[in-house]
Amino acid sequence: MKLIEVKNYDEMSKVAAKAIMEQIQTKPNSVLGLATGGTPIGTYQYLIADFTKNQTSYEKVITVNLDEYVGLEKDNPQSYSYYMKEQLFNHIDIPENHTYLPSAKNIDDEEAGRNYEKLIDSLGGMDLQILGIGENGHIGFNEPGTSFHSTTGIVKLTDSTREANARYFATMDEVPTHAISMGIATIMKSRKIVLLVSGVKKASVLNQLFHSDINEDLPASILKKHPNVTIIADQEALSILK
Ligand code: F6R
Repeated sequence: MKLIEVKNYDEMSKVAAKAIMEQIQTKPNSVLGLATGGTPIGTYQYLIADFTKNQTSYEKVITVNLDEYVGLEKDNPQSYSYYMKEQLFNHIDIPENHTYLPSAKNIDDEEAGRNYEKLIDSLGGMDLQILGIGENGHIGFNEPGTSFHSTTGIVKLTDSTREANARYFATMDEVPTHAISMGIATIMKSRKIVLLVSGVKKASVLNQLFHSDINEDLPASILKKHPNVTIIADQEALSILK
């Protein structure tokens, strides 16, 4: 794992956006794996600013998102589908039918995961996957204890993840209990991975990531086995490690 140390959230976002832009310049029909949550918002803002200024085109780009809540309609403002449109897709020239998010009808919809796997395989896999990390070490919504062999499917969110995401909902009861997420094996098939880590809340998990062995209690630890992972972390996130 290569570590890029940056000053703050803004610098992390700038460096991440540059990595995505370079990927698209090198391969205009790249398959990008995208994340939601608070961490990549600044990165998407830099991509939009670059698109507005330099017209970097996304016409041939295909995106596959990591995850989506089960039980929220696409037009629900808390859904990741809505988030992606608001934060990125509506502001660049990517065709709507090039943007994919997993989607499950209900928590028993096992076929949804299999279909998403097939889709990713038919696209040739992700060229570049952007990841955030949960305070408990999850990647995608693969919570501690998830098998490293997992593929896309329905996952139950831990109470701590639901609490961390409650900030986007009016009440805790509204936070979905389940999501559909790319599996860990799915994420590991990406040719390149960029993990974004910002803020003091992530300092403990980043420290664990560097010091722990590879084990399923810390899902992100599998990244140590991947040949092309770059972690972009800011000073607050690095405050325990350094
Ligand atoms: C989001 C995702 C999650 C988040 C993680 C960190 O698509 O898969 O793993 O990256 O929960 O979330 P934030 O960025 O809100 O701290």
